[in-house]
Amino acid sequence: MSALTKPAAIHWVDGSQEEYDALCQQLVDGGTFIKLNQKLWPGCFYSRSDASDVARVEDRTFICSLSKDGAGPTNNWVNPQEMRRKLKELFNGSMKGRTMYVLPFSMGPVGGPMSQIGVQLTDSPYAVVNMRIMARIGVEVFKEIDKGDKRVVPCVHSVGAPLSAGQKDVPWPSNKEKYIVHFPETREIWSYGSGYGGNALLGKKCFALRIASNIARDEGWMAEHMLIVGVESPQGEKTYVAAAFPSACGKTNFAMLIPPAGFEGWKVFTVGDDIAWIKPNANGRLHAINPEAGFFGVAPGTSAKTNPNAMATLAKNTIFTNVALTPEGGVWWEGMTDEPPAECIDWQGNRWTPAIAKETGAKAAHPNSRFTAPASQCPTIDPDWEKPEGVPISAFIFGGRRATTMPLVYQAFSWSSGVYTGATMGSEMTAAAAGTIGKVRRDPMAMLPFCGYHMGDYFRHWIKMQKGLSETPRIFHVNWFRKDAAGKFIWPGFSDNMRVLKWIVDRVRGRALGRETPIGWTPHYEDIHWKGLDFPKDKFDELQNFDAAAWKQEVIGHEELFLDLHDHLPKEMIYERELLICRL
Ligand code: OXD
Ligand code: MN
Repeated sequence: MSALTKPAAIHWVDGSQEEYDALCQQLVDGGTFIKLNQKLWPGCFYSRSDASDVARVEDRTFICSLSKDGAGPTNNWVNPQEMRRKLKELFNGSMKGRTMYVLPFSMGPVGGPMSQIGVQLTDSPYAVVNMRIMARIGVEVFKEIDKGDKRVVPCVHSVGAPLSAGQKDVPWPSNKEKYIVHFPETREIWSYGSGYGGNALLGKKCFALRIASNIARDEGWMAEHMLIVGVESPQGEKTYVAAAFPSACGKTNFAMLIPPAGFEGWKVFTVGDDIAWIKPNANGRLHAINPEAGFFGVAPGTSAKTNPNAMATLAKNTIFTNVALTPEGGVWWEGMTDEPPAECIDWQGNRWTPAIAKETGAKAAHPNSRFTAPASQCPTIDPDWEKPEGVPISAFIFGGRRATTMPLVYQAFSWSSGVYTGATMGSEMTAAAAGTIGKVRRDPMAMLPFCGYHMGDYFRHWIKMQKGLSETPRIFHVNWFRKDAAGKFIWPGFSDNMRVLKWIVDRVRGRALGRETPIGWTPHYEDIHWKGLDFPKDKFDELQNFDAAAWKQEVIGHEELFLDLHDHLPKEMIYERELLICRL
């Protein structure tokens, strides 16, 4: 790869603190990083990306399987030979004038039976220091590779901005042309042109979801876009659940939930906020690990009120990207405090004041601005979060942002009806994304941008997974976002989601009653623990209301997905749909 990309130097990453400190200093010297006020933000750095490189690029993300059918209609596919030719051109000399970092990383605890290893070659020191937070990296992983018993996923990443002799670098090198490419059969990742997030930290979406979903299908496990939490009762009984929500549905908040008043003695522990690798153990019980070591969280909306655990997690040793910089050398973003700072420098480096914002609508922080923070700093991190064999999973929760139709919570009748529920889940588009506001975008299991093969085969894999299990996790659907006739959210959300979580745990443990409806089991008013919240029964009934007419529309909406995937759909999906229609 060095012969192809022609870097000026090669640096083998050992993963040490000294190396991290030196790289951060180098990023400060080069203008990519600003060291924050160390009294306020110890160990923290601040960076601004290029304005054209601020998010994952789904339309530039490719699954280059041998056959087009292998990638399926929900992925961008290019013939792998053609793509290899293109990549060879792009990477030819792409690292000129830069250092190539050889970054070995483990997704999951090093040496763990569920962990996987990769090596990322990258010309971005920003990617290296972020990866040190997000994954286990360095010497330990080289040792693991040297054992020779694990397949290594080769990943190459270039920002696509070679430097000629004497050319001065920019703070955020990148290229207008971007390619995020996966070769599922050879388990390779090639990323070109972007230094941002999931495009550049290749262990995350590229490996832990797109490539891992292929490995998991072949080996009989699951790579899911799910948070994992452990719920502990006052008696010390611990129940773990995994939940898949599309973006902008509060996954990190739910992963760090603090039980509300009325739940004395209950605790919620965080195992992960984004990705779960799930595998049956020797006894046929599903166990999950969080393959990551950090949180790459969206900053806007995160506050001491909405998520005090996240605020504590990011208080030190954190890298902030595209938030606002305050005059005292701190950070700020929309929603962090009720009162905005009198002035700050926005994510593009311009002066920002509340008056300017009012006049121009300028945001201080980019809506996709992020914090990269070590998971170990989370006050509610689960004592078993790094257990190599994972934690036992008793329930799966699917959910989305839906103003109508979807009740607060229901339990699917069975595994296959639960898979149908996940396969047809959707979320209303918000003003942040292009498209019709309020239109439901189907996002099966929140995996639409992340499933590295044909979505119909992915549903089949879900169906198949249950067959070897000694205990079947229960499957639920939640919706914190139902609105009343006046357009107001009916449910308070946040901490009060604990009331729903408790019903889920009680159902799993065989303690809670439910009412049968055409869509599944729903709680009666009395089945929910209401202590500490005055929530009248008629409001709850509105929240849980099963609206047959809306559900008929809903099922028609599922057709869109089914038409695309029909030739790969497992028959369970067809029959579950027919049964649902009959019940309606
Ligand atoms: C993420 C995402 O960044 O899902 O986690 O986009
Ligand atoms: Mn995610």
